[in-house]
Amino acid sequence: MPGDGPLVLVHGGAWDIPDAVLADHRAGLERALRVGRRAVEAGRAALDVVVEVVAALEDHPAFDAGRGSVLDRDGQPQLDAGVMEGETRRWGAVGNVRGLPNPVRAARALLGADGQARLLVGEGAERFAAERGLPAVSPSALVVPREQDRYDRLRAHPDFGSAAFAGQMDVPRPPAPQGTVGCVVRDGRGRLAAATSTGGAPLTRAGRVGDSPVPGAGFLATPDGAASATGWGEAILTVQLCARVVGALAARPPADAARQSLAELAAAVRWSPEPATAGLLVVGADGRAGWSFSTPRMARAWWRPGQDPEVHV
Ligand code: GLY
Repeated sequence: MPGDGPLVLVHGGAWDIPDAVLADHRAGLERALRVGRRAVEAGRAALDVVVEVVAALEDHPAFDAGRGSVLDRDGQPQLDAGVMEGETRRWGAVGNVRGLPNPVRAARALLGADGQARLLVGEGAERFAAERGLPAVSPSALVVPREQDRYDRLRAHPDFGSAAFAGQMDVPRPPAPQGTVGCVVRDGRGRLAAATSTGGAPLTRAGRVGDSPVPGAGFLATPDGAASATGWGEAILTVQLCARVVGALAARPPADAARQSLAELAAAVRWSPEPATAGLLVVGADGRAGWSFSTPRMARAWWRPGQDPEVHV
């Protein structure tokens, strides 16, 4: 993708997205892109744009983030999100929150906090969000019928709760589905930002935190580049995938840097019976941008002023 000028690049997860939900994914991406476009045209900073775009994706039930998140072993949503501004390297993140419809807004609020905490988890994160006046809901308000049905089907398995079933779930492997959402932006002044938000993987243990709220893993923005990742969190954490792709921009164009980083992920993570997979968005300081994924599909879209938006699933 050539450079120059502002750019909004979004994703709604990389996995084997079934045909039956492609239209929903497209609709969610188109809506988020419209939000991003309006924000860029209003002259808002990259940091604000990524937050608005990711909040729109969290609000859309097609994705595994905010409302629509998958459920953990206790039948509850567990949400993670992180956001970062490239110019200042300020970041904020929340992990393991259950009753925030827009965890990315709580992450954003941490950028303006006293600087003592950048990453808050669980009840502390929810208390911080309440202090900042962010809305809270009952966790059940974030559960959509699709995810309740999935959980009920698994819960009804005769072996659910047995050591064998739990052991199976503990085997490190790329979990599915992966509808993590994210956005990278270069604004009209050349500033970069990235944000990522997720409901994680189905049937994870209570307390599990993935890559999405960890800078360098699920998101990163520096003066040189901004990236957002989606995929198997434990693997992405292992290789610090977003730090890897932003670092690779010095030597390669963005799409090549993303492809190379995904190849390194697959080669480095050897404790899985299946290859580690993920998807990446990345934009460089010069405005050139790209994506890559090692899954069957990735929901992604982009827009630049003067060009028609592009949406692909
Ligand atoms: N990439 C999202 C997660 O594994 O939590």
